[in-house]
Amino acid sequence: VRSHKIAVIPGDGIGIEVTASTLAVLRAVQDKIGGFELSFDELDYGSARYKAQGSYTPEGWLDYLRKSDAIFFGAVGDPDVPDHISLWELILPMRQKFQQYINIRPSSILPGIPSRVVGTKPGDLDWVIIRENTEGEYAGQGGRTHVGTEWEVATELAVFTRKGVERVMRFAFETAQSRPRKLLTVVSKSNAQRYGLLLWDEVAEQVSKEYPDVKWDKMLVDAMTVRMVAKPTSLDTIVTTNLHGDILSDLAAGLSGSIGIAHSASLDPTRTSPSLFEPVHGAAFDIMGKDLANPIAAIMSAAEMLRWLGEAEAADLVEKACRQSIAEGKTTGDLGGSLKTSQVTSEVVDILEQL
Ligand code: IPM
Ligand code: MN
Repeated sequence: VRSHKIAVIPGDGIGIEVTASTLAVLRAVQDKIGGFELSFDELDYGSARYKAQGSYTPEGWLDYLRKSDAIFFGAVGDPDVPDHISLWELILPMRQKFQQYINIRPSSILPGIPSRVVGTKPGDLDWVIIRENTEGEYAGQGGRTHVGTEWEVATELAVFTRKGVERVMRFAFETAQSRPRKLLTVVSKSNAQRYGLLLWDEVAEQVSKEYPDVKWDKMLVDAMTVRMVAKPTSLDTIVTTNLHGDILSDLAAGLSGSIGIAHSASLDPTRTSPSLFEPVHGAAFDIMGKDLANPIAAIMSAAEMLRWLGEAEAADLVEKACRQSIAEGKTTGDLGGSLKTSQVTSEVVDILEQL
């Protein structure tokens, strides 16, 4: 029996609810097909811990997490804690310290979801956004001087390294090459950001030489938003910087249906450190504790985790069950349905058991 040790961090808000759903589905698929065993190490890292004990995580937490085969993450954020604190205490250090330099955010219009883009139908919009996940605008470099005075200066430094850009570009060209259309769009803002993003464009040119069969083009991020709305079928694989990828992936989620189904994987492709799987959405305080959150994004993230761990059959089944529940209209309010989180979860489990 293959065994996989999963560190589970439900975190805050609806992260806790969708993680519970995800674990139920993972247990179901493990029981159904067997051959592998998942052990869940549930950790209390999050805002409640911070409010009670003064820290999000115990000392040595990153070294502790390093021993797991993968990390499943719910969400972080709390109305009582400024976001810049909660994020830099929990999610961003994991992405950086574990060098999860690839963030994959696929989106497509699934059957059963009313199209949000004029002229598109299910299957039409089928994108993989590859977001650089460790540097750029999220490098955490900068500071404030003369605080509170009229001379106050605040800097936020976007850091791009040749190595950092090269590795994400290569991953993007490889992803594009592995997909039927072999199409890649490299997004930047090199007209205004003339250092970091010129490097980005230059590296794209260089790396592209190794993939002559990939058709690729460059887009400025502002024009890219228009293209995503106006000509969604002209796009396939997309590679962007950290911040641009953050924004474009939310846009993609909105265009393809709902942020409630947008899943993501933060990968260290070298497999030196554990990779992390999480829904794109946040803690959503407005609906937390009400059994209203859509658990599909979290469950689909876990399907990607299974795939990463080598459990492709289980991954396919979970994905299929999620798709079928959507196609049958067994959805939460964000997709026009009337089911609760817990009901969608049992539907997915039921479908899975019958597949
Ligand atoms: C996301 C989130 C995060 C990000 C926040 C929570 C730090 O918005 O995963 O898209 O900006 O990357
Ligand atoms: Mn985001």
